[in-house]
Amino acid sequence: MKNTPIDYDIVSQKIKESKLKSIGNATIREIKKLVDQIEQDTGKKFVRMEMGIPGLPPTAIGVQAQKDALDRGVAAIYPDIYGIAELKPEIAKFVKNFLNVDVSPEGCLPTVGSMQGSYAAFLTLNRMYKDREGTLFIDPGFPVHKQQLKVMGQEWESFDVYDYRGDKLRDKLESYLSTGRFCSLLYSNPNNPSWICFTEKELKIIGELATKYNIIVIEDLAYFAMDFRKDYSIPGKPPYQPTVAHYTDNWVMLISSSKVFSYAGERVGTMVISDKLFETSAPDLLRFYSSDNVGYAMIFGSIYSLSSGTPHSAQYALLAMLKAANEGRFNFVEQVKEYGEKAKIMKKLFLDNGFKIVYDKDEDDPIADGFYFTFAYPGFSGAELLEKLLYYGISAISLDITGSERHEGIRACVSLVQRSQFKDLEERLKQFHQDHK
Ligand SMILES: Cc1ncc(COP(=O)(O)O)c(C=O)c1O
Repeated sequence: MKNTPIDYDIVSQKIKESKLKSIGNATIREIKKLVDQIEQDTGKKFVRMEMGIPGLPPTAIGVQAQKDALDRGVAAIYPDIYGIAELKPEIAKFVKNFLNVDVSPEGCLPTVGSMQGSYAAFLTLNRMYKDREGTLFIDPGFPVHKQQLKVMGQEWESFDVYDYRGDKLRDKLESYLSTGRFCSLLYSNPNNPSWICFTEKELKIIGELATKYNIIVIEDLAYFAMDFRKDYSIPGKPPYQPTVAHYTDNWVMLISSSKVFSYAGERVGTMVISDKLFETSAPDLLRFYSSDNVGYAMIFGSIYSLSSGTPHSAQYALLAMLKAANEGRFNFVEQVKEYGEKAKIMKKLFLDNGFKIVYDKDEDDPIADGFYFTFAYPGFSGAELLEKLLYYGISAISLDITGSERHEGIRACVSLVQRSQFKDLEERLKQFHQDHK
């Protein structure tokens, strides 16, 4: 099949030169590099769906506040490692307004992106008990979290939730948590890569088991309020972004600014620790920290060691964005709805051309349209499909690297695809279908 939209020989040559053992196991950055080279050599633009970067401009309120802070000279001054004074209550207000959860400002901490939040959380929480160490992931998930644990030499396990939705989640989860091996549990909701969203029933199961086995849930809300089937955008009014915090006191939330505020470049996020956990004392922490108090160890042990706080000016940007959202002046959900609208159109183009959506349901409901979706084509593994699609000018990542057991699947990210490329996408998918059906 040599008559492909992107020159067959060049694509084959570049794949060979990349020396990747398997395209399916390539990391997101490796795929990006390969596609950059193919685009450069062929002069043809790909429909690029491999990287989860925001495709929208940064929130202007944040940019202005950050510039103003820089003009005031904050760059010269170390910020407090637990966050600037005005930011902490504003985070707590945001958590009350958009999740309907009460938390004291003390446990509201800025972090250098949500990635630093997860690193600090693993580092601290997985050391609370000397007879347990690891994290259980409800997969599919974001590969970098596992890399963080690997770098630290901590243990982890995971299972793919695909076959364990609804009531089935209880027994599956309990089979892991009852082993007494884990300190923490992590999932993202909405989920990267599958865009499934846990139902209230599932969050209740997770919360109840976390309490029963004294496990800390690290709830990764990187795509906060981006389940567009419901409007979570009105401060202080239901519906609220669903959270496990309604069902257990053992939680840490990670709220990223990268996607919802399109602020990925400034690496500023939020870690929120429940009051109960913040006050918990765990004597085994003394092996690594000067205090057995979880909140103290997190701030003055882990965050201090990692970066001594979060950039000063970025904290002012976050403060301004949260304040505007809390006061109802800034509808942060409205500005990212474009992702859902693009996903709806793109999913239809795939479905019309013989592809299937892999993770397609939240219990009985069709999944939302959002930042990511997953797809497969009959007869191909995800790795094979990924490679084939390169000849058709379409790039994505295989689900193999996300802990998914749906080895036929691929993750597509809609953010960087321009609406002006939909025609190309349609034609390329049509030709792929014609060539392979
Ligand atoms: C599930 C998930 N968690 C965390 C992150 C990282 O967030 P941040 O940019 O705030 O570090 C991402 C980014 O893609 C993500 O998809």
